[in-house]
Amino acid sequence: MSEGRVRVPAGPPLDDLDAIERLDPHAAREVLRRFPDQCREGLGLHPSPPVRLALPRLVVVAGMGGSAASGDLLATCLADRLSVPVLTHRGYGLPALVGPGALVIAASYSGETVEAVSAFEAAVKAGAATAAVTRGGRLAALAARHGAPVVTLPPGLMPRMALGSLFFPLLGILESAGLPTVPEAEVAEALETVAALADELAPARPVEQNEAKRLALAVGDRVPVVYGGELTGSVAYRWKTDVEENAKRFAVAGALPEMNHNEIEAWRAPEADRLQAIFLRDRGEHPDVARRFAVVRALVEPVAGGLAEVWSRGEGRLARLLSLIYLGQWTSYYLALLRGVDPWAVPLLEEVKRRLRP
Ligand code: F6R
Repeated sequence: MSEGRVRVPAGPPLDDLDAIERLDPHAAREVLRRFPDQCREGLGLHPSPPVRLALPRLVVVAGMGGSAASGDLLATCLADRLSVPVLTHRGYGLPALVGPGALVIAASYSGETVEAVSAFEAAVKAGAATAAVTRGGRLAALAARHGAPVVTLPPGLMPRMALGSLFFPLLGILESAGLPTVPEAEVAEALETVAALADELAPARPVEQNEAKRLALAVGDRVPVVYGGELTGSVAYRWKTDVEENAKRFAVAGALPEMNHNEIEAWRAPEADRLQAIFLRDRGEHPDVARRFAVVRALVEPVAGGLAEVWSRGEGRLARLLSLIYLGQWTSYYLALLRGVDPWAVPLLEEVKRRLRP
């Protein structure tokens, strides 16, 4: 990682394990630390009844927030293998292209998210094949009523910290539907990669050996502006939402090359001094994208408050994507601690849901 000008803000020292325990009363750190196990357990979760399906012409993962993130990861990690589109649908109902021959997987950790329930209902109405990935709730009941395959998730997680549980069963569902999936060796490599990172990024690792802590300190009180490339653009979005939900702070996400055609103009002094650019780099990125990162860096670095580059780990797409997502989770966790907020609780998000409850 290259950190640019590092400005260490006042706040709890990230190596003080007692302070971390106090600031993280729900032990989100333990959930993050267990992420590799959660992925392994996710691989062992299968739908009941099993998926029996002719090859779909389209796959839609319908959900919101942390649950929808599983659809983004699926679409991105299989984009070089799949001959049918995989879309993530965030919202009520479904687009008109969903009909017979489509497979709609409603993903909602809680099973109570109205948009996911509405998408499931729309899929049934449109004559699409359906499945659900959920801990229970209204979605599980609805799916059971329609005899749809349901993957039942383990309890006790926050949706955004349940990506391993939400994502890995999707691979099995696609496989049962006759679609190509991530080869076993690549899955194993991804699990090894995140297992190594779990040790490197956890609170017990001091700042000088911990990339996530250093990155959080580099961001300090600036707004993180996270850019990915073609593969990692959706990961940048995931970083943004993790910073917002865990650290309760604004973050911006974008991707190259698209930001070269619009957002680059916003990098101006003196405002940019309040921003911390974070580039999500990937060994598999297109050489032209690598050149673009170099050009953007040269233009942004002189005006930005700071600029950091982080690199994906591993060989396969899944390892590379998961390693960057996991680094973002830990970085946003440490940003929460620096701000003195509980990384687990999302009171405003819950308040919106409460006010909209029928
Ligand atoms: C909270 C979180 C949210 C939820 C979203 C949808 O941790 O990540 O983004 O994922 O509000 O709720 P679920 O996932 O239960 O359908």
